Amino acid sequence: MHCLDCKREFELDQSLLLCPECGGLLELGFVINNIQLTQLKGRGVWKYAPLLAGDYPFKVSLGEGSTPLIRSRVYPNLYYKFEGTNPTGSFKDRGMCVAVSSALKLGYKSVIVASTGNTAASAAAYSARAGLQAYLLLPANNVAKGKIAQALLHGAKLIEVSGGFDSALENAIQLYRNKRTLYPLNSYNPWRLEGQKTLSFEVFEDIGVPDYVFVPVGNGGNIYAIWKGFKELAISGLSCGIPRMFGVQAKDASPIVRAIENNLSELRFVESPQTIASAIRIGKPVNWKKTIKAITDSHGGAISVSDEEILKAQVELARVEGVEVEPASAASFAGYKKLMNEGKIDQNSKVVCVLTGHALKDPETIIQESIKIESQFASTFNSLDEVFKMF
Ligand code: F0G
Repeated sequence: MHCLDCKREFELDQSLLLCPECGGLLELGFVINNIQLTQLKGRGVWKYAPLLAGDYPFKVSLGEGSTPLIRSRVYPNLYYKFEGTNPTGSFKDRGMCVAVSSALKLGYKSVIVASTGNTAASAAAYSARAGLQAYLLLPANNVAKGKIAQALLHGAKLIEVSGGFDSALENAIQLYRNKRTLYPLNSYNPWRLEGQKTLSFEVFEDIGVPDYVFVPVGNGGNIYAIWKGFKELAISGLSCGIPRMFGVQAKDASPIVRAIENNLSELRFVESPQTIASAIRIGKPVNWKKTIKAITDSHGGAISVSDEEILKAQVELARVEGVEVEPASAASFAGYKKLMNEGKIDQNSKVVCVLTGHALKDPETIIQESIKIESQFASTFNSLDEVFKMF
């Protein structure tokens, strides 16, 4: 493992989460293992345990992973990897089962995480499962109701932080640096990302290596983890090539897009990020170096989409494909449509849009915003008589 800031290298050590020399972001080396995936038994994330860095004597599980890859009925060669079917309704469960298992191995009793909501819900559930206490730092008044309800239901302790998610995360990191009694579950924890890379193994087992993968980007951990998964398959000789990774951000919360478009080697943070997609309302992505590495290495790109494009994509997925996702998750599909409409993707290309979280996470946005975006569909009737008259 090595530090992306000071570049020092270390022996693989599961207790290291940030660089012990400079506090920077740690990257785990590629796991090279040429076991055929078809030889692996079981299902879900832990099926791929031999391909994960680290040692997990207690494998905490709620049946995460093995999510459906749904073929579009409209766009040829487009597939949706629907992560909303995970136990707590988002992709976070893939990483959380591994990170919480790591906390158990290291002997921790409590965990901490800053979150826009989904990480919080997942951390709360997996901590309950492992018998750990979860402390959640949430941006005040900025988390979708479904996610708060999940966290409360699982008995986590909630702390509201002013100043949005970025400030909540700064607090969580500071706490870990000063006092190491709480195990951090945010995606700067490289062991958590090991679990998230299993999405790529599942896609590969279903359809081989796609040409493009579109991922909504907030902190940028997931796009990196998915890239790492594909990269390891290729380096191990199990697959040929890797997909082009495309990160999609909301227009007023898009520091990565700005960096990629302007060829910046340093990221300029967005101070007050805004978007209806509260899960990705992030201006200071902690994993930005990893995100840029994934995008540039794979010859991918980064695109921003407006809130209107996000909501339209959410409604289209629900009404045309029957797939229900929260706004942030629809960003990947919105980004795909944008490139498709601009003629930048060949119709024959095999594309996967990662749909990161379930619609029920954020029912308020659906009722207040999403269903109004396509007004011709938003009709409700006042009486049964009105309906009968139509037929
Ligand atoms: N989609 C959803 C539904 C999310 O909840 C998140 C992140 C992302 C995409 C972006 O993933 O951060 O790895 O780039 N949610 C975090 C949270 C920040 O706290 O739940 P990323």
